[in-house]
Amino acid sequence: MALVSARDMLLKAHKEGYGVAQININNLEWIKAVLEVVKELNSPVILGVSEGAAKYMGGYRNVMAMVRELDAFYNIQQPIAVHLDHGTYEGAFKALEAGFTSIMFDGSHYPFEENLAKTKEVVAKCHSVGVSVEAEVGSIGGEEDGVVGAGEIADPEECRLIAETGVDMFAAGIGNIHGKYPANWKGLDFEVLAEVQRVTNNIPLVLHGGSGIPEDMIKKAISLGVSKINVNTECQLAFAEATRKYIEEGKDLQSKGFDPRKLLAPGVEAIKNVVREKLTLFGSVNKA
Ligand code: G3H
Ligand code: ZN
Repeated sequence: MALVSARDMLLKAHKEGYGVAQININNLEWIKAVLEVVKELNSPVILGVSEGAAKYMGGYRNVMAMVRELDAFYNIQQPIAVHLDHGTYEGAFKALEAGFTSIMFDGSHYPFEENLAKTKEVVAKCHSVGVSVEAEVGSIGGEEDGVVGAGEIADPEECRLIAETGVDMFAAGIGNIHGKYPANWKGLDFEVLAEVQRVTNNIPLVLHGGSGIPEDMIKKAISLGVSKINVNTECQLAFAEATRKYIEEGKDLQSKGFDPRKLLAPGVEAIKNVVREKLTLFGSVNKA
């Protein structure tokens, strides 16, 4: 299936009360792992690409080339969006030019008026070619690929104004954090989430920092209007753990165990298990 904008898959998820996973990709193994599970579980998915990950993979055009060719190789029939994650203003236009089908412009670190003005420009440009847009107000705590946030809770009035720009999905800081959650984490602020959904006129909401959020909170967030949940750290941890185990058990020293296709295989299986678990928890299995 041709790669698509995230708009329709999120509107469907929002209407039917489930979440679509944004799984961040880091290399060839990650893309293969996600596409294999999507095919197996007949689920839509959003492939998240941070600017750092795009650079690592040889640039936006190479990311698109890899995803497009693997999509054809696996004969994927499910909707797949390729989404710039926490994009800068400049990065948004570069990724658009390279053929990304969905763009997050993260202007949350700008003074609000500037975030609003820049989001409007990105929306106009992306919508003119059928590409979906995500904006952010407030911030996600912690750090992801160089994007650092203090975790400010979103201001509902600012959310309303950004939603009016016509963005297709909206990320609000509601106490969520990138990376591992600390033991004393207070949890998601559901009152703010409900208010954000009310003032944004029911547009699909995005939950960043999806790794490590307890299942009951994920389900409640979906019931309050979250339709896209971003997961990165959990796949990275699972990959690292499985790879470490392989090496600690000395398997790379046995026979041809050093062959990268063998050495990376347990890590790929571990990513696939996380993706299976998330698609099932979010409720998107058989929703393609
Ligand atoms: O934008 C991507 C995410 O918000 C992923 O967060 O690494 O905590 O799962 P995570
Ligand atoms: Zn994020």
